[in-house]
Amino acid sequence: MESRISAMTSLYAFIASPAHHSKSPLMHNCAFKELGVNSVYLAFDIESDKLKDTIKGFKAMGVKGANISMPHKQNIIPYLDQISTASRLCNAVNTIILKDNKYYGTITDGIGFIKSLEEKNWSINSNKITMVGAGGASTAIMVQMALDGAKEIVVYNRTIREEFIEIINNTSKETGCLITLKPLSDTSSLRQDMQDSYLFINTTGVGMEPMLNQSVVPDSSYFHPDLKVADIIYQPAVTKMLQMALDAGCEIMNGELMLLYQGAESFKIWTDLEMPINKVKKVLGIEVK
Ligand code: ATR
Repeated sequence: MESRISAMTSLYAFIASPAHHSKSPLMHNCAFKELGVNSVYLAFDIESDKLKDTIKGFKAMGVKGANISMPHKQNIIPYLDQISTASRLCNAVNTIILKDNKYYGTITDGIGFIKSLEEKNWSINSNKITMVGAGGASTAIMVQMALDGAKEIVVYNRTIREEFIEIINNTSKETGCLITLKPLSDTSSLRQDMQDSYLFINTTGVGMEPMLNQSVVPDSSYFHPDLKVADIIYQPAVTKMLQMALDAGCEIMNGELMLLYQGAESFKIWTDLEMPINKVKKVLGIEVK
């Protein structure tokens, strides 16, 4: 259905710095148009010292919602009126919505990842999950899997940081999920944990430019054919690690569905409508099954 910009059009925004690489305007404007929702979504490059004024200005203008990306996901929290449990545990927000002149913040990255698993018919509730990375993406995924009923998660990271240990402890305490952090250099533990796991996830940038031909897993002997293997990288579509997993007979998934579904979740929060997934997949160049 056609939607035209008019005096009644609502504004949604993407704020980050840099902002102009984002695929979010394509996704949301496609979905608004398809569903005949009288709204537009625009990207704004906002530097950190302008963040507070931006949120104040957005509220004054009645901007209905926004996605927040680097470097503002944490720094925006003091300027919001309320945040979700997931945002509190992650200390990060990627979606805000205006309700009763108040901005409510939440994070949809972890939900996006879990929805992408659902499309593959992979479950998080059965067995142990092993993941690599302790950055923003890892935190969002780990916290959401714990909130959604995962029983045991082992996180490997190159660096062991106090801040991340605290996030793990708080998440474990609130959800009952057993979460442990181990150094990535402990390859014999990594081999054993991968052997015992149902799902393995890379959340680091290892495998994309400038670390294109690298993998967090040393070789394909670490994988077993029953292991489901996800990489949140989507460019390249098959990372070196995913190729190793394929060689070992594993089912694999890259990060393009997570990107899609984190957006679909924001869209749902703003409009109460399901994003027209197949249309948006076409716009993003994702294969429609
Ligand atoms: P994002 O928001 O995408 O998660 P991030 O917060 O910068 O990005 O986190 C990047 C993650 O990739 C971290 O876990 C980082 O490990 P460190 O905490 O040790 O820095 C991981 N990472 C980046 N380069 C890496 C490399 N060469 N080997 C192993 N891990 C790497």
